[in-house]
Amino acid sequence: MENYVEILNDKYFEGKLSKKFRNKLENIPIDRPDVLSMVERMFRLINNANIPATDLSEMLGEILGTLLGRILPSAWEDRIPPVTVPGRHAAIDKYIKMSQWNSKEAKSMMDIGCGFPPYTTIDTANYFPDWNIFGVDPSLPKFLVHDESGNYATFSEGKSIVYFQPSNPTIENWDLLLKDKEETKSRFYKLLNQLDGHPSKDKNIVPRLELDPIKIYEQNNLSFIIGGIGAVDIKPVDVIRCFNVLFYFNNAFFLKALSWFKGKLTEGGLLFIGGNWAASTESFYAVYQKEGDVLHRREFAFSIDCICPFSVATWYANHDDDQQAAELTKYVKMIRQDDDFMKEFYAFHDLQRAAYGICPRDSDGYYDNIDSSIAPEDIWPSVGKILEELNENGFNDKAIQVLRNSGVNAKLNEVGHLSILF
Ligand SMILES: C[S@@+](CC[C@H](N)C(=O)[O-])C[C@H]1O[C@@H](n2cnc3c(N)ncnc32)[C@H](O)[C@@H]1O
Repeated sequence: MENYVEILNDKYFEGKLSKKFRNKLENIPIDRPDVLSMVERMFRLINNANIPATDLSEMLGEILGTLLGRILPSAWEDRIPPVTVPGRHAAIDKYIKMSQWNSKEAKSMMDIGCGFPPYTTIDTANYFPDWNIFGVDPSLPKFLVHDESGNYATFSEGKSIVYFQPSNPTIENWDLLLKDKEETKSRFYKLLNQLDGHPSKDKNIVPRLELDPIKIYEQNNLSFIIGGIGAVDIKPVDVIRCFNVLFYFNNAFFLKALSWFKGKLTEGGLLFIGGNWAASTESFYAVYQKEGDVLHRREFAFSIDCICPFSVATWYANHDDDQQAAELTKYVKMIRQDDDFMKEFYAFHDLQRAAYGICPRDSDGYYDNIDSSIAPEDIWPSVGKILEELNENGFNDKAIQVLRNSGVNAKLNEVGHLSILF
């Protein structure tokens, strides 16, 4: 493993990665080629984006070394895990409402690859109470089992485990469940057998078995359908959102998906494809609009924190030919090549990191880890606040100027994202 880390360090970072970062990478499971190639792909993108070794925090090393192997599909029998977080698409919902492209009175939306529990789809249904919202996902479970600590496992119709997750998904809690994955699975199978025939909807009861758990999330304007891209029986809708799904697929699938989406949109309908992390940080997306038989790409947009991300959504490409990752990297590089902008950005942003205790610069000039006194549930909301402050202090606007100086047709969109218009 040490050799793999050193090779990548020399190849992408002139051997300048910090010792702390390299130590965290040593935890990458050597027997997982998917993790090894994903890390290398991310390093290639980071390097292409002109990001120096000093900006790779110890926390990022921990995410790559420990968390990544747990959330990639091969850890789940090659299924894409349904991981999602409440509030993740708040900025995207707002943009769907305010977007200049949304000229007609949109009324229906399909959130495809909605995940489970379908937190972001529920957020959307609450945000658009007059719309009909459809959450669609191939992995909606038939059974859900919570153990005594609130950790849960989802099961398919045939009673095989699809996914399990700690009640609070911190690295420490994941460690407890994954220390012996087979033991955890057999514990959940045992619980399912014990609770079979005694389902409950009472959230205060643990352990608990829920049947057709997706049903409890349905409301008058929200329903769910089991299905996936190319395989859902649904009438055309005004808006399609497909977030944190297509970066698992190659470009051939992406193109096929576009053509299927076109057939599922009403005239003038909008398609939003992209990715992000918690609290709408590291957001990037393309907006398409259907006109006759054509799906026009109207814009590509991203949040300013993608130029110096805390986590990995910005680089989360599972295939070398991922178009969106390449496009985002190209614009991040343009912004980062402007020394005057970056000087001003670092002067402000490094103070933010120090004030919040989240990956501040250490005395050697490298981004560090999180202050250990910060509760795990406070980390991403704080990262969200850091992004808000960057916008309030005009760094998104200044970056637009940098893009324009490079000849790009860029403007700030209605939610403060940097938008490239086509
Ligand atoms: C990481 S989750 C994203 C959840 C949510 N959209 C979000 O942004 O937080 C990816 C979801 O894509 C779903 N998925 C996998 N293959 C799919 C397909 N062919 N079509 C639609 N969704 C798919 C998975 O079941 C999983 O729930």
